[in-house]
Parts: sequence; structure tokens; C-alpha cells
Amino acid sequence: MTYTATTSDVDPVDPVVREAQEYAAKLMLLSEGSVHRHFDPYEDIDWDNPDFDAAALPERWILPVSADTLGRHPWYLAQSTERQIEIGKYRQANVAKVGLQFESILISGMVNHTFSLPNGSPEFRYCTHEMAEELNHTLMFQEMVNRIGADVPGMGPFVRQFRHLSVPVAVLFPNLFFMAVLGGEEPIDHIQKAILRSGEEVHPIMHGVMAIHVAEEARHISFAHEFLKHHVPEAKPLNKAVLSLAFPLVMWLLGRSIVKPPKSFFKEFDIPEEVRRDLFFGSKDARQTFSDYFVDVRALATEIGLMNPIAKGVWKLLRIDGPVSRYRSEPLRSVKAA
Ligand SMILES: [Fe+2]
Ligand SMILES: [Fe+2]
Repeated sequence: MTYTATTSDVDPVDPVVREAQEYAAKLMLLSEGSVHRHFDPYEDIDWDNPDFDAAALPERWILPVSADTLGRHPWYLAQSTERQIEIGKYRQANVAKVGLQFESILISGMVNHTFSLPNGSPEFRYCTHEMAEELNHTLMFQEMVNRIGADVPGMGPFVRQFRHLSVPVAVLFPNLFFMAVLGGEEPIDHIQKAILRSGEEVHPIMHGVMAIHVAEEARHISFAHEFLKHHVPEAKPLNKAVLSLAFPLVMWLLGRSIVKPPKSFFKEFDIPEEVRRDLFFGSKDARQTFSDYFVDVRALATEIGLMNPIAKGVWKLLRIDGPVSRYRSEPLRSVKAA
């Protein structure tokens, strides 16, 4: 499909044309958002402020309870303050490292998606804005890791192999690729928003990085939703059936890869096996928290016709089924009360 069908020889009320025009208009709005509201990791974060020193008031590295099941686990709460700080630094640095590795994988796929887009495609402009922002996020996250000073690996050895899949998936199966994008972006965004909304004190490095990330990520997640809303209905019935089953699988796999620290983390801090099991994902609290990350994705799957009875069974089997939001980013409290 081309995106330039605005000439007078096309019936303006043709629903396909109208939908393409609406999609183009939404992407233009997102692109303009990128122009008018964007951040630079070195201009907009006050790295040299003495309060931003990773060693200043280090208790602020103790894990927040609002968004980290480890932060509220009895084993963690029973550790000494020094130990809680040490684990908190490692954990937060590792999440940032996983985040930046995920962004790099995303950029490599997305740049290959834009490579063969037709002239005039609004996806080209928007995706290029998004990649520029993601590159800045990788700089920002790496700076945070370096300043914390914990030599974290980020992704474990299995998950880091995903980087080899990103390009072929983006080129051959763009719908699947943008599902995977959501599988990484939604959990990170939910964790960061939960911390910011809770008002808990976190280290200013963490606060500054999260505030910038949440602001720009809102656009990225909107785009992935719009992309899937536009392209999935165009797919052939068999492809749609496959996508409906792939959706929960991708969310489960990517979501876990983002949230679960690598084995080296548990070794480094002698974390008992039963605590590890509790956290990922043996306890009800851990399972519920994980499933809640996908409240907007389940709404999207329903809206684009990917929540058929078999797909519903897969969401349930993977324990990531549950309520759907009425609008994107609806606070969980209000979703559950409805
Ligand atoms: Fe990002
Ligand atoms: Fe993003």
C-alpha cells in the first residue's frame, strides 16, 4: 500500500483510503511530537550536579517496593542497609543495561524495516525519529550504568541471541517485529511509571533517566499500537491466526527476558534458590505483577481481532491473561475496579 493516495482521482470516502489517511495523520502527529518534545541525555540530565553522584545519599539505591517484586520480598527486606544498597545498585544498573541492549536490537530491526519503505511513507519519518530517540536512550542508560559502577552483564547468554533474529524478523514479518517491540517496551514502561506514580524516593540519576524515558516511550508505544492496528487487519486469515498465537508468546518471552536478571545476579549476591523461584515467577504477587504489564496489549489484541478462543487459551496458559484497559495507560486501579 502507498501512503500518497490523496489525489482527486481517488474517492475520498473509500474506507481503505480514509483509514490510510488517518494512519498517516496519526504518524505525522507523532513525528511532530518528536520534533517539539525530545530530550538530549547530556543536556537534559544534570550529571555533574553533586546530588547526582552515585555515592551521594546511597540509601536512595535501595529498591523501591512499588515496582520491584525483589524490593518488597522478605528476604531482601531482611538484608543489611549496605547489602540492600549494593543489590539495589546492581539490579537497577542491570535493568538499564538490558534496556539499552533491547533498544539496540530494536534499532537494528527498525532501520531494516525503513530501508525498503516507499517514498512518501509516513512510517519512514516516524521510525527515523524513534530510532534517533532510542539511540539517545542507549547513551543515557549506558551513562547511568557507568556512573553506578556495577559491572553488570545485562541480558543473559540465551536472551542476547535475540539480536540475530531482529533483522530477519523485521524484514520478513514486520507485524511480529512490532509485537516484539511492544513485548520489550510495555514491561519497562509499566515498571518506570509505577515507580514515578508511587512517589517513592529513588536516586536522582534513576529519576532523571526514567522521566525522560517515560515521556518519549509514550510515543513509541503509541506507534507500535497504531502500526499493528493498521497492518494486522490487512493480513491474510492464516497469518492472522498465527499472529494471534504469537502475540501472547512474544509478550511472555520478551517480558520475562526484560524482567528476570541473569543467573550471575543470583550468584553474585548468594540469593537462595527459593527466593529466585518466588520472584520469577513462583509467587502470586510476582505472577500478578507480570501479567499486569500487558493490560494495554490485551486491549490491543482484542481490538485488532487477535483474541480468538484459542489465543485466549494461550494467554491463560502463560498466566498473562486478565482485564483489559479502556484506554492506553489507564491506571491499573481503575482497570481492576471497572
Ligand atoms: Fe527507549
Ligand atoms: Fe522505545
